[in-house]
Amino acid sequence: MKKEKDINEKRVIYGLKKIPISEKRNKIANLFEEVSNNYDKMNDIMSLGAHRIWKKDLVDIIGKEQMLNDSKNILDLAGGTGDIAFNIKKRFKNNNITIMDLTLGMMKIGKSKASALGYDSDLKWIAGDSAYLPFKDYSFDNITCAFGIRNVAEIEKTIEGCYNVLKPGGKLLILEFSPKVIAPFQRFYEYYLKNIIPALGDKIANNREAYQYLSESIQTFYSSENFCELLKAKGFNLVNLKKYANGAACLFIANRI
Ligand SMILES: C[S@@+](CC[C@H](N)C(=O)[O-])C[C@H]1O[C@@H](n2cnc3c(N)ncnc32)[C@H](O)[C@@H]1O
Repeated sequence: MKKEKDINEKRVIYGLKKIPISEKRNKIANLFEEVSNNYDKMNDIMSLGAHRIWKKDLVDIIGKEQMLNDSKNILDLAGGTGDIAFNIKKRFKNNNITIMDLTLGMMKIGKSKASALGYDSDLKWIAGDSAYLPFKDYSFDNITCAFGIRNVAEIEKTIEGCYNVLKPGGKLLILEFSPKVIAPFQRFYEYYLKNIIPALGDKIANNREAYQYLSESIQTFYSSENFCELLKAKGFNLVNLKKYANGAACLFIANRI
């Protein structure tokens, strides 16, 4: 029965191989469940703290472009342990922020961080798959997604859904790692992805397999140029790209017509 279903189901990239959509969704949920307790610490170690600067910059950019202090509706997709939502809340208090994520363990950590910060009643947490957004069309002024899009099982459907639930003139801001950096650093970057990240995962989080996947998922993700093209193909009329750390991380700012 399972085999028959697998044969008919569309296959998507998971690390270096292709597997059925539902299998990827399950594997990803289990993986983030397993790493949730060490997730924040590992982010700091693997990026040497740089992910904090990139996330803050994302919030600066929506702040500048959309006047966030004006009470906007923001959706943070694949919001995990809440970094982006807390960054927004800290700087622009009057926004309604919804965080959606597939993994309960990640949101559990996020909710306890929210309590410690005094944001308990200000944030809405929703468990679910980003490809099936439970919101009406034109619900949000901005959607953010940091380091989540390469992990979702159905990337194209997720982008289509984002377009639908954004208001006209709204923005989708996606922060994601890239498989390519500028040429002189490419070999070192590949060595770092293939060897250092799995080794750190093994040593610090006691989970080489999960960090091996995270590294492979970066290696097989879209180039920044191709991802811009995908966003345009899904209807976003203007896509701006900002690169960090010689291109290792990219911020895509996609405008809805
Ligand atoms: C690398 S973490 C990023 C978390 C957070 N945005 C951050 O920047 O720290 C990726 C997150 O994507 C979530 N995720 C993966 N697939 C998803 C899906 N289909 N729908 C919603 N969330 C998903 C995972 O549960 C995980 O919390």
